[in-house]
Amino acid sequence: MKVITVRDYNELSAKAGQLITDLIRSKPDCTLGLATGGTPLGTYQYLVERYRAGDITLKDVQTFNLDEYCELPRCHPQSYYRFMHDNLFQHVDLQAENMHIPCTEGGDPQSQCDSYNTLLNSTTVDLQLLGIGSNGHIGFCEPGTPFTRETFLTRLSDKTRQDNQRFFNSLEEVPTTAITMGIKNILQARSILLIASGRGKAECVAQMINGPITEQVPASALRQHPNVTVILDQDAAALL
Ligand code: PGA
Repeated sequence: MKVITVRDYNELSAKAGQLITDLIRSKPDCTLGLATGGTPLGTYQYLVERYRAGDITLKDVQTFNLDEYCELPRCHPQSYYRFMHDNLFQHVDLQAENMHIPCTEGGDPQSQCDSYNTLLNSTTVDLQLLGIGSNGHIGFCEPGTPFTRETFLTRLSDKTRQDNQRFFNSLEEVPTTAITMGIKNILQARSILLIASGRGKAECVAQMINGPITEQVPASALRQHPNVTVILDQDAAALL
């Protein structure tokens, strides 16, 4: 695990964005695993700027998102489908058929998990971008998730719902379930880039890097992967 500490969120976003830019330039038909949440916003902004400057094209890039809430239609302002369109997809030349996000609308969740998993297993993600939950989750793989898990229907922990309440009007509005890539899917990526910002992440970052490798801290599974880069701002690195 390569750990890079930078001064602040802006530097973190530029560093992560530059690493993804370098990959797209060296492999224009790469497959990216994408994350949602507050942390990657600056990284996506950086990519949009590089696209607008003519430095990169995403026309041959494929993307696979980590997760999607159940209980929200895709048109809901807080669905991850909307998040990705609002913050990245609509601003770049990514082709609609190359964007993949778990579908949680209608249908049977198990078959939706199975079809996303089949799609994921038909490719190899070159770079998986990750945030980390304050409880150590990656994707929506909450503490206790077996490392062998593939795409599954997950129940969000109370901590995750409280953390994500800031995007909704009330805790009751925060979905209770989601479809997420499993830890096994995440570990199948060729490389992994985890970004964390702020003092609220210092504890889980320290556990991920220095604590035991345990299913109680899902991000600790990343220590079993040979090519992981972690970019932290000074606050997230405070307990290292
Ligand atoms: P955040 O979420 O970027 O909104 O802090 C990270 C995560 O839950 O993975």
